[in-house]
Amino acid sequence: ETVRLEDYRPTDFVVHGVEMTVELFEGRAEIETTLSLSRRNGVPADAPLLLDGDELELTSLALDGETLSRSYYEADPSSLRVEGLPASGAFTLSIGTRIVPETNTKLMGLYRSRGVWCTQCEAEGFRRITYFLDRPDVLAPYTVRVEADRAAAPVLLSNGNPVEGGPLDGGRHYALWHDPHPKPSYLFALVAGDLDVLTDSFTTASGRPVDLAIYTEKGLASRAAYAMDAIKRSMRWDEERFGREYDLDVFNVVAISDFNMGAMENKGLNVFNHKYVLLDSDTATDTDYAGVETVIAHEYFHNWTGNRITCRDWFQLCLKEGLTVYRDQRFTADERSATVERIGSVRGLKAHQFPEDQGPLQHPVRPREYKEINNFYTATVYNKGAELCRMIHTILGADGFKKGMDLYFERHDGEAATIEDFVRSFEDATGEDLQQFSLWYNQAGTPTLAVEERFDEGAGRLTLSLVQSLQPGAADTGTEPFHIPVRFGLVGPNGADMEPAAVSGAEVRGDVIHLRKARESVVFEGLGARPAVSILRDFSAPVTLEMRQSEDDALALSRLDPNLFNRWRVLTDLVGRALTAGVAAARRGTDVTFDPKLVEAILASVGDETLEPAFRAQILQLPSESEIGRMVGSDVDPAAVHAARESTRRRIGADGAELFAKLSEAGRPSGAFSPDADSAGRRALANTALDLLTAASGDLTAAERRFRDADNMTDRLAGLSILVNQFAGSAEAGAALDAFFRRFEDDDLVLDKWFALQAGVPDEGTVERVAGLARHPRFNLANPNRARSLFGSFASANPLAFNRADGAGQRLVAEVLLDLDRLNPQVSARIATTFRSWKTLEPRRREKAREALTWLAGRPGLSTDLSDIVERTLR
Ligand code: ARG
Ligand code: ZN
Repeated sequence: ETVRLEDYRPTDFVVHGVEMTVELFEGRAEIETTLSLSRRNGVPADAPLLLDGDELELTSLALDGETLSRSYYEADPSSLRVEGLPASGAFTLSIGTRIVPETNTKLMGLYRSRGVWCTQCEAEGFRRITYFLDRPDVLAPYTVRVEADRAAAPVLLSNGNPVEGGPLDGGRHYALWHDPHPKPSYLFALVAGDLDVLTDSFTTASGRPVDLAIYTEKGLASRAAYAMDAIKRSMRWDEERFGREYDLDVFNVVAISDFNMGAMENKGLNVFNHKYVLLDSDTATDTDYAGVETVIAHEYFHNWTGNRITCRDWFQLCLKEGLTVYRDQRFTADERSATVERIGSVRGLKAHQFPEDQGPLQHPVRPREYKEINNFYTATVYNKGAELCRMIHTILGADGFKKGMDLYFERHDGEAATIEDFVRSFEDATGEDLQQFSLWYNQAGTPTLAVEERFDEGAGRLTLSLVQSLQPGAADTGTEPFHIPVRFGLVGPNGADMEPAAVSGAEVRGDVIHLRKARESVVFEGLGARPAVSILRDFSAPVTLEMRQSEDDALALSRLDPNLFNRWRVLTDLVGRALTAGVAAARRGTDVTFDPKLVEAILASVGDETLEPAFRAQILQLPSESEIGRMVGSDVDPAAVHAARESTRRRIGADGAELFAKLSEAGRPSGAFSPDADSAGRRALANTALDLLTAASGDLTAAERRFRDADNMTDRLAGLSILVNQFAGSAEAGAALDAFFRRFEDDDLVLDKWFALQAGVPDEGTVERVAGLARHPRFNLANPNRARSLFGSFASANPLAFNRADGAGQRLVAEVLLDLDRLNPQVSARIATTFRSWKTLEPRRREKAREALTWLAGRPGLSTDLSDIVERTLR
């Protein structure tokens, strides 16, 4: 049941090619798959062929075209075992299967969404379509013939290039697709339905014309324009930055309503959750625009990092995911703002990966074992995985990184590779030893980096001592010292980095300290004045930084640091410290105070017109209540967290009232709506300012006006969210919610926002309101976006209500998970991870969480997905 990395061995049989005919009918699909196979050299002649299946029905089986007699095979829904196959030479096996896409509520394999046939095969969905060696190291070219009723499905798509198509008897038709690039089965895709299309074209650097198409449900193709633009920018960027060109005649994207994840990089046929394709200013926020751009880029970049070079086994998932996230982050940095991108990624890492790495679901970036691979599409694999790629870049420099990537593509194109292959490419291309660095892939946990400084005035000598440590965690994968690249600068009184006359101690190359031992020091000589130490610039390693820097130095850095990321970071750390103290005060029942010098520094940065608005908005956005809970670390009382955060918001809002009044009106972009990064940043700053201003004044008229007069969804939702969050239960908030519902009733993506907003209201009564919303006619547990918008938001973004002291919030979620699990185990398991920080709660709430989890764990018939999460969480 548990799969282990060390048990990897190649298959006994090699697949040379796959030919499929998929016939779609109302109520069933008939699939015939012909595999060209041969026994691998050295495999015993009597070894059987063992194919994976999942809920399959075998309808026929033939060897080299001859029906195979029953004595040669055994089939059940989850496997097919064939004996007596040729000892040598090539042969074909033709397998008939029948499935029912309409009842496939797991949304893995072939299913129907709003009448559209579509597939999701990663990680192990292909075995729900046909029996196969369903693992990523089995690569073959595919030829796929799709047949369906012409009226029900005028559009018939699969991977690769279109070959031919035409009419068939009985109102049916077919299309033939060929994908010449050998690929693993998880990249197989098929879509059929009555879809609208937006088309465009792209010519690659070497002159290959590519037809681009985005398919949507009827009437929505015009909302794909921004996604189309993002495709073209992604294609160009990958050519320019990584030298990677597209390699087929067509690139198709399909937007689907019911989808378990964000999107899927199937070769030549990316399938998307429609949330990451469909946009217009009236229905989508700036955040949605940025999300579409990122996910489009991410899936496109997989064409090289994932598809051309794939993973040997699922333990290597970060090989494609960490690297591709890193690439999409670089794309966003280039397309928008590098500093704002970095702040966003670090916020995301701390909000999602740190709690995972520090809790019961901890696992290394490259796990060693799993029970259910779907549960390893995690922030650790994706986002910490991306941080490891970034660290390689930091260690090797831009040039060395590029050389390593080029060698990786050259060596492993067309292969299923490992992390060792990846790391070796960088070592061989540059001569750098990355063996100690590789520990990052294998050792779970967030190391702490403690930094102390000592300045000898007379000698002009600065000594930095750095100590790294790692606590053993749930994964129990060791605590050896890492190779940590620490980017730094010594900021002089005028704001420029100072150059020391000499450096000794730990290895320093350029602006990076290479910490390799548990403790090391660096000595900088010949400094004319005491610098402010700007440490861990750009968050050069995923660590918890502990530096008792004087407040004066930190505040100086917040104004002067040439590294803008660190200006944000020092302020955020000070705010974090203040909030943690505030939580303790709130718990004692004493007043929450906030250092006026810190408020002043925040307002100075926010008011600094030489800085980008988006950056200033980031400075103004306090850490979320969950994030504050994580900083507090143990014995967390979410009510105290909420109280401390709210009182801080009121304080900042009051002290900054004048500035915020100006920003919230005059700072907004003028003219027609544009989703560009600068305009988005202005809206973010204006709306954050309005939020704080309202928190301080208690006057809702400006928020109401923002809601009512908005000509775009960003402003509309910002106004609504202030009303609903700050004036919960008021007539004004209720009227606004109703008006919003009536206006967008027919738009599922907007309705998701309506549900999510209400689930997030930090008020104890939200538990009952969420339970009520689950009975709303427009709620639908079977639609993953809707389930996540109500229950995912409630459990992940509303610690106050979710962890209500009487346990009702956790209990509500546990009960829903049980229902959801029967429909869709992947989505139930994902929402269940929101319990991961339960052990950090104060004793009463912790006990309630334990009860809810224990109750859930004891229900019979849980999916492997959900039971894996619940059991690990409880352990
Ligand atoms: N490969 C897809 C992506 O990162 C996600 C697939 C998620 N699969 C899963 N079983 N959860 O773009
Ligand atoms: Zn991905």
